Amino acid sequence: MKTSTNASELLSFQSEWSSPVAFVPTMGALHEGHLSLFRRARESVGDSGTVVASIFVNPLQFDRPGDLKNYPRTLDDDLAFCRQEGVDHVFHPNAAEFYAPDHSIQVLEKSLAQHLCGATRPGHFDGVCTVVLKLFNLVAPDFAVFGKKDYQQLAIIRRMVRDLSLRVEIIAAETFREQDGLAMSSRNRNLTADDRADAPRLRKALLAAQNLAVTGERSPEKYLAAARQQLKGAPESFRVDYLELVSRQTLQPLASVSEPALMAVAAFYGEVRLIDNIEITAR
Ligand code: PAJ
Repeated sequence: MKTSTNASELLSFQSEWSSPVAFVPTMGALHEGHLSLFRRARESVGDSGTVVASIFVNPLQFDRPGDLKNYPRTLDDDLAFCRQEGVDHVFHPNAAEFYAPDHSIQVLEKSLAQHLCGATRPGHFDGVCTVVLKLFNLVAPDFAVFGKKDYQQLAIIRRMVRDLSLRVEIIAAETFREQDGLAMSSRNRNLTADDRADAPRLRKALLAAQNLAVTGERSPEKYLAAARQQLKGAPESFRVDYLELVSRQTLQPLASVSEPALMAVAAFYGEVRLIDNIEITAR
């Protein structure tokens, strides 16, 4: 496995890569969820293709300075995981070199980012799009793999690929979960033991809503109420950031659950913010 820390170093290795190239962008603090993306990337290019990962905690996409500061950084372990998973190249730039000090161009998404995380984290997805576009330009992959855990991010990246005519095929990977249902996340390691024990509550709330779908229920409010019921009785450290039922197509709230829907939740345990989502299709 080769590594590089700046654009020119990356480019010097690129001539050795055999096509096709699959790319998995990450912010590190790797867990099984990320590893499942590496496996998906390998499947898409076969043994003779190249799997590239990036590890970069992108300051542009953090809306809370404390979150950026506390974001776990475990580079040595991350590189060991990548090696173990057969990743061919890891690009891990530092922020000071990656962005010119006077950088002034950003990608702006104006529709899909209106709700869910886009509403509560202003500028977040513009930061995501900007870094992902820059990484796509550097790595020039044929495929790029993104997790459904960050459903809105996946939808926005797909839209960017369409709207800016990027030459990359986006692959969606299912959410990888702990035994108790909690979606794996780099932030889980910042939870207290008590909060960690309570955190499957999010998954239970989403499942309670999904269970209604078999009844053919059409009222969004009924689905939201079923989920909210499960969010009651949480510890004091718990606070819901949002719980929304949106169209899977537009990510706008639905008046009736008569098209494929997505219920998404974000919640804080203390300072730690977790997200999860579930697809809902009423019968
Ligand atoms: P990060 O949170 O490190 O996630 C990297 C990729 O792993 C994303 O595509 C995310 O959806 C996926 N992922 C995270 N947890 C997962 C899980 N439990 N199951 C399946 N996939 C999972 O998302 C980012 O980084 C950044 O925004 C990035 C795209 C790298 C841009 O900075």
